[in-house]
Amino acid sequence: MNIAVITGSTRDNRATRRLARWVQNELQQKDVTVDDLDLKVYDMPFLNEEPWNPERKLTEGTKSWLESLAKADGYVFVTAEHNHSIPAPLKNAIDYTAGEMNRKPAMIVAHGSVSGVRAIEQLRLILNSNIGVVPVPTGVAFQGRVTEVIGVQGELSDVAEKNTSSLQTAIDELLWYTSALSRAKS
Ligand SMILES: Cc1cc2nc3c(=O)[nH]c(=O)nc-3n(C[C@H](O)[C@H](O)[C@H](O)COP(=O)(O)O)c2cc1C
Repeated sequence: MNIAVITGSTRDNRATRRLARWVQNELQQKDVTVDDLDLKVYDMPFLNEEPWNPERKLTEGTKSWLESLAKADGYVFVTAEHNHSIPAPLKNAIDYTAGEMNRKPAMIVAHGSVSGVRAIEQLRLILNSNIGVVPVPTGVAFQGRVTEVIGVQGELSDVAEKNTSSLQTAIDELLWYTSALSRAKS
C-alpha cells in the first residue's frame, strides 16, 4: 500500500514541513510505503492550460507531481491555513489533476491559529467535488503551535502528545479506506 504525504505550504521556513515529518514518522510505523511529496520541490507554474486536454504540455515538475499522485493508493494532505483556506500553491497543484486521485481516500492534517479547522473543511470540499477523492471522517486539527512543539525532523514534544490520538484515528481510517477502495477497484 502506497501512501503519499503532501506538504501543502511552500513558504521558506514553513511550519507545515515539520507537521508533515511528524505524520510521516507515525505512518512509517505501519505496514505501508510512504512517499514524501513536497510541493516546494516541483517546478509547477500557475495553471495555464486545460487539465482535460490530451495534448497538454506540462513542465517536468508538474509531470512528476501528477505521476507521483497516480501511483499512490491513498493520500495525506498536510496543510497550513492561509486566509481561512488552503495555501494557493496547494490549490494550484490540485487544479492540475485529471483523475489521478479519483476514488482514492485522503486524510487531512492542518494547523493554524484555530488549529486549521477552516482549511480542513475547505480542502474536504475541494477534494471531494470534481476531483473524486474520498475524504476520511477524522480531520486532524493540530492543537498547539507547530514550531514550538514539533522539531525539524518531526519529533513531537510531550506537551503536544494529545494530538497523537486523533492522528492515529485518522491513520486507521485512511488505511481501512485505502485497503477497501483498492480492493473495490481491482
Ligand atoms: C498569508 C497567510 C495567511 C494566514 N492566514 C491565516 C488564517 O486565516 N488562519 C490561521 O489560523 N492562520 C493563518 N495564518 C497563520 C499561519 O497558519 C501560520 O503562519 C502557519 O505557520 C503557516 O504555515 P506555514 O508556515 O507552513 O506556511 C496565515 C499565514 C499566512 C502567511
